[in-house]
Amino acid sequence: MTQRVPVTSNVDPSILGEKLNFQTSNRLAENRFLKAALTEKLLTYDKNNLKFSGIPNQRLINLYSKWAHGGFGVILTGNVIVDPNHLEAPGNAIIDKSIDSEERRSAFKKLAYTMKSGGSLAIVQLNHAGRQTQKSINEHPYSASDVPLDTFKFAKNNKMMSIMSFMAQLRLLKKILFNWCLITGYFC
Ligand SMILES: Cc1cc2nc3c(=O)[nH]c(=O)nc-3n(C[C@H](O)[C@H](O)[C@H](O)COP(=O)(O)O)c2cc1C
Repeated sequence: MTQRVPVTSNVDPSILGEKLNFQTSNRLAENRFLKAALTEKLLTYDKNNLKFSGIPNQRLINLYSKWAHGGFGVILTGNVIVDPNHLEAPGNAIIDKSIDSEERRSAFKKLAYTMKSGGSLAIVQLNHAGRQTQKSINEHPYSASDVPLDTFKFAKNNKMMSIMSFMAQLRLLKKILFNWCLITGYFC
């Protein structure tokens, strides 16, 4: 059973309500609350039609609109996958040059705009699922390691993941208006 960390003295939480200046980017968060990354899996996924898969839709916008008005200093997206063959799950958002389109760019812009609409800073979490790619997505995923995850859901990974897929997406993202980007490699 989970044990609570014992609290020995009272702690003043008021600092959480104070502004936080990020010096390198010169951005100011209104407070120190951050909406954590929570994979949404709300988008269309069709293996045979990747061009129309993983485009932010109205359900995702509605969700982020609620969070945008929830008083967070910073809002982080869930997984936004940089390679359509390495999703963490069907329904992930995808941004990749091979399936780039005006429709996808404007949907991501709308998402970024929505996230910032209540005054929060917006961070997009770029991810490559590596060895956590589900078998249903890809039987032979790439990963930085060839040690597989020991569960039935994940495929046996091959060793060979490059940061190039991240770099290409960063160039695309410059045109979309998130404040920052967080780069993640799941169980790489
Ligand atoms: C439903 C769910 C979805 C999550 N999705 C992501 C995700 O997309 N990206 C990520 O880095 N972490 C993800 N996480 C991890 C959380 O962001 C968080 O780091 C983790 O739950 C630990 O925080 P906690 O101790 O407050 O629960 C997820 C966690 C949960 C419970």
